[in-house]
Amino acid sequence: MMEDDPADGWFPESVAAGYDAPGGASAPEVVTPVVDVLEDLADGPVLEFAVGTGRIAAPLAARGVPVSGIELSRAMAARIAGKPGGAAVDVTIGDMTSTRVAGRFSLVYLVFNTIGNVTAQDGQVDVFRNAAAHLRPGGLFLVEVGLPDLRRLPPGQDVVPFAVAPGADGGGYVGFDRYDVVTQEFTSNHVTVSPDGTGTFRRIPFRYAWPAELDLMARIAGMRLKHRWADWDRSELTAESTKHVSTWELDPSPR
Ligand SMILES: C[S@@+](CC[C@H](N)C(=O)[O-])C[C@H]1O[C@@H](n2cnc3c(N)ncnc32)[C@H](O)[C@@H]1O
Repeated sequence: MMEDDPADGWFPESVAAGYDAPGGASAPEVVTPVVDVLEDLADGPVLEFAVGTGRIAAPLAARGVPVSGIELSRAMAARIAGKPGGAAVDVTIGDMTSTRVAGRFSLVYLVFNTIGNVTAQDGQVDVFRNAAAHLRPGGLFLVEVGLPDLRRLPPGQDVVPFAVAPGADGGGYVGFDRYDVVTQEFTSNHVTVSPDGTGTFRRIPFRYAWPAELDLMARIAGMRLKHRWADWDRSELTAESTKHVSTWELDPSPR
């Protein structure tokens, strides 16, 4: 088995190896609505920030959309070319806060909560600025990200469980988020226990931001809100929504 490379961040070989397990986020009923919306919004070449294993980029490229990607983890990116459509994805290894690729794009997109992997406000602003720098006038930056579950935190509590799943064989899984409402940092925690009592504990740090804060980041980067949906079905965002899919448009006048 290949060793984890610290340069791959929170998604090294040991994570990448299981990332595309069938079902879950890789299931066609999850992937297809995402690809449908992105194909519809694309009006020429598109760029995925944090393209990962090509879960979305490869099927989008398979539909004939020219797709480029930026990705921090070599281990994740190594999986893209093996997928249908993946060989056509032009991948650059780098950090989406600063890495530039050639070309101007009709759409830059950043899905699956990954804006939160950048854990400082300045870094998230840099992501918006870098997206804008890759867009042609009138181009769109799209972000899909969960809404922080702060309404489920009574005073004195900082943990929100999102999955408690005992296995029939004695093992099980517990997932919970732990919030710091002062810094807007939170961790997603995954505890998996095998039937023999051994287990793993994986913790990933994030930074949450309300949609309004992301709107200001977009303004700083020269973009304005164009769409705000509760999900890929383009439904309206409500007080009960758990995530949003938003796009911001770069000033349509040529720069
Ligand atoms: C949850 S995965 C999402 C991958 C892919 N977008 C998808 O939808 O399946 C998060 C990815 O973001 C990458 N990532 C995290 N921070 C990054 C950064 N600053 N620049 C580029 N990639 C980053 C990770 O290496 C990982 O592959």
